[in-house]
Amino acid sequence: MWGICRKTAVGMAKACGLVRPQHFVKPVSVTRVSGRYRSHQQGLPTLPVPPLQQTCERYIAALEPITDVDDLRHTKKLVEEFQKTGGIGERLQRSLEKRARRAENWLSDWWVQVAYLEYRMPVVVHSSPGLVLPRRTFSDQKDQIRFAAKLIAGVLDFKTMIDNETLPVEYMGGKPLCMNQYYEVLSSCRIPGLKRDSVVNHAKSSPPPRHITVVHNFQFFELDVYNRDGSPLTVEQLHVQLERICRAAAEPSAEPVGILTTMHRDSWGKAYLNLIKDKVNKDSVSIIQRSIFTLCLDGAKPQVTEETHRSNAATQMLHGGGSLQHSGNRWFDKTLQFIVGQDGSCGANYEHAPAEGPPIVALIDHVVEFTRRAEAAESPTSSLPVPQKLLFNITPDIKEDIEEAKRSMDKLAQDLDMKVMVFEHFGKNVPKMYKMSPDAFIQMALQLAYYRMYQSCCPTYESASLRMFRRGRTDTIRSASTASASFVKAFDDPGKQNTVKRDLMEKAVQAHRSYTNIAISGQAIDRHLLGLKMQAAEEDLSVPAIFTDPAYAKALHYQLSTSQVPSKTDCVMCFGPVVPNGYGVCYNPMEDHINFAVSSFNSCKETNAGRLAEAVQDALLDMKILLEKTPKSKL
Ligand code: COA
Repeated sequence: MWGICRKTAVGMAKACGLVRPQHFVKPVSVTRVSGRYRSHQQGLPTLPVPPLQQTCERYIAALEPITDVDDLRHTKKLVEEFQKTGGIGERLQRSLEKRARRAENWLSDWWVQVAYLEYRMPVVVHSSPGLVLPRRTFSDQKDQIRFAAKLIAGVLDFKTMIDNETLPVEYMGGKPLCMNQYYEVLSSCRIPGLKRDSVVNHAKSSPPPRHITVVHNFQFFELDVYNRDGSPLTVEQLHVQLERICRAAAEPSAEPVGILTTMHRDSWGKAYLNLIKDKVNKDSVSIIQRSIFTLCLDGAKPQVTEETHRSNAATQMLHGGGSLQHSGNRWFDKTLQFIVGQDGSCGANYEHAPAEGPPIVALIDHVVEFTRRAEAAESPTSSLPVPQKLLFNITPDIKEDIEEAKRSMDKLAQDLDMKVMVFEHFGKNVPKMYKMSPDAFIQMALQLAYYRMYQSCCPTYESASLRMFRRGRTDTIRSASTASASFVKAFDDPGKQNTVKRDLMEKAVQAHRSYTNIAISGQAIDRHLLGLKMQAAEEDLSVPAIFTDPAYAKALHYQLSTSQVPSKTDCVMCFGPVVPNGYGVCYNPMEDHINFAVSSFNSCKETNAGRLAEAVQDALLDMKILLEKTPKSKL
């Protein structure tokens, strides 16, 4: 099937699906393989431009379950006009095809600009996902630091595979995937701008960075993680260095300068220019930006019950809990931040522009496995340079910006409702037993849950990987389909027989899996439509009417924004809703249970993360019951 699996050196020759990914990612070679990454990338196909007519037909089909009849009739006319022979659609399509012949990927640069760098809402909650790892038990700060030291060593172990180009290639449905995102997540950082941000990647600079940033009690430190001979510091060495940092930052800093990175991007763009006017500040910021990654050692936080712990940990990873908790103990522009809390809450936060969730999770799976390894006996550590505290001169203007950032961050933290739910009744095993795609089954449960709450279907986004193509990112699987609408409408209808309901369920699941296959092979509609719109802007043409049509805006108003991020570790990724009256739903289907993180905004009276999570649980159970008690129909 299409599941992403990581092929090892051992499994390379076997077909995908037959190979169980090994638990611990092992390099394909123990020594550097120069040029391997490049030749792999060059062998990948380029992203196709789908045929215009196909996209237009599929666009209309996608609108059917979410648009009323009159609006749809109007949109059909606009689409006909757009795609007619000699029309604007044909012209844009030709230009797009030309662009695709020239570019490595006709979409990716546009996508990164539009979806991330020109998106001005704070990266916190609105763009950067969090990741919650299983809770650790720390009896004291020494335990916390020991785990953090192992975690750093685990990331450096993974980094060696990236540096040596020995990272095993991943496959989906037997096809090799683009590995570019792995080369973008370390030593990189987002830089705020006045109208648009940028991303810098220092991994290829000479010499490459050798340090990470550690932040504790809102104070930043530069920690060199390599010895003079180029070997990574050992766990013991890292432990000693982290202890030094914790001693040096035993009291919280008066000014949590990191909280500036939680601001609206326009405000942060302005505040940033002001901050780096000062040479000391500029140097400190540059050290953070250049660092391989950030480690956030969080202090204590208010006790919560075991039941609310996971949801609470999710907000800690997603936004830090506000200015009185850990939001200032971050640099949210940093691509990768690992978080280790004093109470055993652990996880990560990542800035989305350079990569999607799966490569981040693959790295984290490796790190988690690494931390479980028995520790090798180490000889006493020789003297190491003292980690340098990064200094900031806080002028009254900067102080004002920090206060402003605290206020807006606290408002955002208050507004976010997060519910992490472990669905324990079954996992991928049940849909597989009924020969259904587990992902499609879960998506249909989400559709049913939403319909039960609102008696309507809503535009739904699920990310589909485009990594079969060189520098591929994502397209949209539109989970609300004509088939899903028929299924959810029939499900609780007492007038419908169970055999009919089961048949509709199977058709809906199948339709979802078919759309998934369409999306991952570069034939979905959303990025193509975006490309046509971008092309019109590129050629200074007026925006074609299909893009100013209210139906287009409606189609992009994703009240359900969802994503599957699978992992070997029993963890869950989380993110915020993408519209004020919507939900963010991330899930990790394990074999016998499913981890969900559901978010909504408290300021919207119509949404409630906990209620949707419950409705999803009920929908999954009811769908299973229907399968159990109803023979497969012969319709
Ligand atoms: N019968 C039995 N088993 C089936 C089946 C069927 N009809 N259909 C699928 N399966 C099995 C698969 O073989 C696979 O097995 P595995 O657990 O041994 O690997 C498993 O069920 C999962 O398959 P499925 O549920 O269909 O999902 P998928 O793994 O193909 O994933 C997507 C679907 C859309 C999530 C994936 O293609 C994708 O694009 N992922 C990237 C998403 C992304 O980037 N997210 C992050 C955004 S930040």
